[in-house]
This record gives sequence, structure tokens and C-alpha cells, in this order.
Amino acid sequence: MNDIINVHTITKDYKIYIGEDILDELRSFVERSDYSDKSALVTNSTVYPLYGEKVERVLKDRFKVFTYILPDGEEYKNIHEFIKIVDFLAENNLDRRSPLFALGGGVVGDIAGFAAATFLRGIPLIHIPTTLLAQVDSSIGGKVAVNHKRGKNLIGAFYQPDAVFSGIDFLYTLPDREWRGALAEVIKYGVIQDEELFSYMEKNTEKILHRDRQAMLYIVKKSILNKANIVQRDEREKDIRRILNFGHTLAHALEKMGEYKTCRHGEAVAVGMVFASLLSWKLNICEKQVYERIKNILQSFSLPVHIPSKFETDDIYDAMRWDKKAVSNKLRFVLTENIGKVKIVTVLEPQIIGEAIDKMKE
Ligand SMILES: NC(=O)c1ccc[n+]([C@@H]2O[C@H](COP(=O)([O-])OP(=O)(O)OC[C@H]3O[C@@H](n4cnc5c(N)ncnc54)[C@H](O)[C@@H]3O)[C@@H](O)[C@H]2O)c1
Ligand SMILES: [Zn+2]
Repeated sequence: MNDIINVHTITKDYKIYIGEDILDELRSFVERSDYSDKSALVTNSTVYPLYGEKVERVLKDRFKVFTYILPDGEEYKNIHEFIKIVDFLAENNLDRRSPLFALGGGVVGDIAGFAAATFLRGIPLIHIPTTLLAQVDSSIGGKVAVNHKRGKNLIGAFYQPDAVFSGIDFLYTLPDREWRGALAEVIKYGVIQDEELFSYMEKNTEKILHRDRQAMLYIVKKSILNKANIVQRDEREKDIRRILNFGHTLAHALEKMGEYKTCRHGEAVAVGMVFASLLSWKLNICEKQVYERIKNILQSFSLPVHIPSKFETDDIYDAMRWDKKAVSNKLRFVLTENIGKVKIVTVLEPQIIGEAIDKMKE
């Protein structure tokens, strides 16, 4: 059984298909489409052996398919690999109505999406996300990008797909660390606007950790609804979309200081959410119990809740001030009033932030 979520944006309305028979859904989508008869499949060297041929088989009944396989890794989400994809599209004479299917995690979705956004000023893009993070986060909202040596996602665009196919069956082959890391983002949706999702995760931790089918369907669908709801209201990250950055100010600082190598993004977000809720409690924005619930749920999914002691408090503070999303270097945090309710607060007292950082150290 598949669920369909309709997304309305300024530039496009499209559907996100979620469920178990996702390739059947993809088949009927391409059969009824009015695309031209050439398509590109962009994936990577890990995902292709797992699912590449299955997807090609579906597409080949409708198109001539040109498959491009990226090396696996965030370090390949760069302008050089982007150019190679564009070369490949040009050499195979893809035209304005040739769709590009991005099969993989957030890295593939972001770089292939940026190629689709720019080649011939934009060709149809279809996301087939295969990681939990890509299904609940990166495939929704239309952000596509590559990294630059001066920063992550520095070159990019807003470009909405024609459709998204989130098959939960892809998720069984994910390494455990990828699965748990992305759960931090799911918990984030609970804190920022979905108390029901948060409580469900508290009560069904074991099922979720063991990737029980019903539990997976529930959390993937709920997360997509949450993110779609936010980005529909604010496509270009001006206002409400900022609440998606809950836990991310500290997370970005930690990732940068560890040069993106020491931890997964979701792990940094877990630490960042504990920090944000500690700050909320210390500033009397929430009760202590809210902070404790957030910390406990993250621990029950074996996610980190401390800042590694090797990082100096002053360095963390400075790194947070230089975060790309910080406005004019003022430290603005998404803080929590309760589970399911957050607000954006400018914190002017460096001392309170410093104390909270110190309290977070292992
Ligand atoms: N566009 C956005 O709005 C947005 C939002 C959040 C994150 N991102 C970006 O997403 C990226 C991270 O995405 P990610 O966490 O999916 O990482 P990823 O794409 O690197 O995937 C993680 C690992 O899992 C492998 N993999 C993918 N699918 C698999 C499967 N089904 N089974 C087994 N292995 C599989 C990948 O090859 C990779 O080794 C970052 O570049 C980040 O900047 C973008
Ligand atoms: Zn994130």
C-alpha cells in the first residue's frame, strides 16, 4: 500500500509517493508521463549494485536510459563531479524534456539535482531517495547543491522535482549508523512541531531500531508531512523554515571543527538538540523535564548527547557565530518551549552560551 503526499510550491505542484511497492508506482508514473524518450539515471557505486538494475528495468520500458555512476562519498559532491555529469548529459544529447532520475542518498540527490536544475536551464528531476535522511529531509524542499572548498552547499539552487519516490524497502540495506543518524532529524520534527511523532518514538524505540515495517512507514510518512508542511509555507528559507535548523547551529560548528570527518551529520544534530534544549531550560523558556525528554530519547537511540571535550568552548562559540545561517553574526537559536513548539530567540549573553557548552562536555 502506498501513500501519496501532495506538495504545492510556487514553481510546481508534485507528489511524494511513500511505501512498499514504489517501483510499480514509478512505472506507472513514467508510462503516463509526456517526457521525451531519453532519460538519465544518476546514482553511486554503492547504490547501483543494490538497486540500479531494478530501477533501470522499470525505466527501460519507457526510455533509452543513460546511467551515470558517481563514486561514493560527500567529498565527491563538488563542482568537478557536477561538470562530469553535465558533460555526460550533453554528450548523450539529452533534451529539455529528458528526465533525470536521482537514485541514492542526499549526496546523489543534491549533486544530480543541481545538474538537473542547470543543464539546459533545467530538465525534469525525479528523486528516488534511498537513505532515511534523503527520504525524510534532503529530497523534500527543493534545495540542490554542491560543496565548495570554503563551505558546504555553497553553490546551489532551489529546484523542485516532478516527483519523489520514497520506497521504504531501500532502507533495509542501510548501515546502522546511517539509520540512527537520520533518526535525529526525525526526532527534530517531533520537537519542532509534532508532539505525536515524538511520543510515538519514545514508545516504539525498539521497533524503530529494528526497522519494523509499520514503524518505518509511520516515521517516514510523518517526517515527510512535517517537512513538506514547513517548506510549502516558506519555500526560500525566509521565516518559518528556519525552525528546521533546530539543533543545527551547534551541529554545524562541531562538524566544521571536526572538518566533517569525526561524526555523521545526524550525530552532530543530536548533540545540537540537547544543547538547544539545555539553553531553553536555562533561559526559562522550557521546563527541565522538556530538556530531559529530548536528551533521553536521543540516548535511547544511542545517539551522542555530549560535546567532545577536546573542543575548546571559545572555539565552539566562534564557530557558531560564523555559521552560514547566522544573521549578521548575531547568535540566533531555535529554542524549545515544549515538545512540538519552538521559537527563534536571539541570545545576547555569551556567558550563558559558554556555560551551556561547558555543561555539555563529556
Ligand atoms: N537538499 C537538502 O535540503 C538537504 C538536506 C539535508 C542534507 N542534505 C545533504 O545530504 C547529504 C547527506 O545525505 P545522506 O545522509 O543520505 O548521505 P549519503 O548520500 O552519503 O548516503 C550515506 C551512505 O549510504 C549509502 N547508501 C545510500 N543508500 C543506501 C542503501 N539503500 N543501502 C545501503 N547504503 C546506502 C551511500 O552510498 C553512502 O555511503 C549531505 O551532502 C547533505 O548536505 C541536503
Ligand atoms: Zn540536518
